[in-house]
Amino acid sequence: MLRYLRDPMGVMPKLAAKHGDPFTIPGKEPLVCTGDPEGIKAIYSADPMSLEPFNVDLAFILGPESLILIGGPEHRRKRKLMMPPFLGARMRAYGEAMRRLTRQHLADWEAGRMVSASATAQRISLDVILEAVFGVHDPQGRHELGQALLELVEGFSPLIAFIPALRRELGGIGPYASFRRRQRAVHARLDALVAQARREEPRDDILSLLVAARYEDGEPMTDDDIRAQLLLLVVAGHETTAISIAWALYALHRPENAEVLERLREELDTLGPEPEVDVLAKATYLDAVCNETLRRFPLAPAPAPRRLLAPLELMGYSLPAGVGVGAAIGVAHLREETYPEPLRFRPERFLERKFSPFELLPFGGGARRCLGAAMAAYEMRVVVGTIVGDLRLRLASLRPDPGKVRAANVGPAHGVKLVIEGRRTPGTS
Ligand code: HEM
Repeated sequence: MLRYLRDPMGVMPKLAAKHGDPFTIPGKEPLVCTGDPEGIKAIYSADPMSLEPFNVDLAFILGPESLILIGGPEHRRKRKLMMPPFLGARMRAYGEAMRRLTRQHLADWEAGRMVSASATAQRISLDVILEAVFGVHDPQGRHELGQALLELVEGFSPLIAFIPALRRELGGIGPYASFRRRQRAVHARLDALVAQARREEPRDDILSLLVAARYEDGEPMTDDDIRAQLLLLVVAGHETTAISIAWALYALHRPENAEVLERLREELDTLGPEPEVDVLAKATYLDAVCNETLRRFPLAPAPAPRRLLAPLELMGYSLPAGVGVGAAIGVAHLREETYPEPLRFRPERFLERKFSPFELLPFGGGARRCLGAAMAAYEMRVVVGTIVGDLRLRLASLRPDPGKVRAANVGPAHGVKLVIEGRRTPGTS
């Protein structure tokens, strides 16, 4: 754990190089990790009923109904209901909002200013969730709900997650009491939004689609259930997408990647000054840049491990029930055999060949693959394409960023500070 905190991106490849792949992280509950496509295939192809989440107890934060905390048939049932609003074809409906919200946050990016790509990307991705998922179109309402959600997420003390005995309100004092106050405030706002969506005509946003959705037995989702899923979508969707956008801007503005930036600008310029947002989101080189970002800077070296409920054959080893298994993205994405010169940021590799879902897995895989993958991928392309197309930027510091652990994710350590050189005129560098 200490080595992970010191070197979040490097630790897993080093363990695999030293101990071989697969390797076991010992502990009260040993965790067998693999970055080998064959091992990853064994994990993601296993019967989903034979795996369960391997989490700290987060039910008191996210709600016991939260998709990420449940397993077995209940997970399958809920996921089936929640999936349709997140399918790729629906993303076009949110694309215009993604570009508009990006431009709103760039409005005061004037030449000479220094800005943090991480902070701006966080605000953009939160606004996108509030508008596209929650259906909050009024900027003041978005601002207030955004603040309440950030206060809840950022003000959360990990101590109360790890030490259940601390979960006492103690007459309104202490971290748990403060957490509960913020949680009640957020719940009240979310409940009001759910009630409003139930009253109104069907809308385009994901909340409205969830309100209208029915399980196979004709039952709707309860208010508690919808509230838990909304909270999960903020927690799972906002920082993750923002971190990936910030890494893309970091990599593109590194001097050693100047040719990549140039090639991307050329592609964006051929699309014209105001391309259809769907044309932007599908631009070939931009797509390669975003895939290369997700490959080179995965959000976590081995996200979302599972506990085996039945034995599993993994690369010649027979693993018994009770053992944890994890697809080590941080190893898989840096394998020399799959990605020659793995530390180089080279989007061209995605133009030269296709990678299997066991070689490229930024969104995990199997029955619990990221629900928001299509939305995150679309948003990344629209936001990065808009920023790079509109502005000339440079990194404020050329010091390499080693990444830093932030709650469940690894993000840029220094916020990716950028200096704004000016607005771009298409056709110029
Ligand atoms: C670049 C951005 C993102 C990345 C890299 C990412 C990655 C991941 C990963 C690795 C998992 C775990 C998958 C597994 O267990 O195998 C996951 C789960 C999940 N993600 Fe994402 N995510 C991103 C954005 C989003 C967004 C925008 C949303 C929704 C608005 C979202 C919603 C979820 C949900 C609900 C789950 C749990 C799925 C389940 O347990 O069935 N994510 N994500």
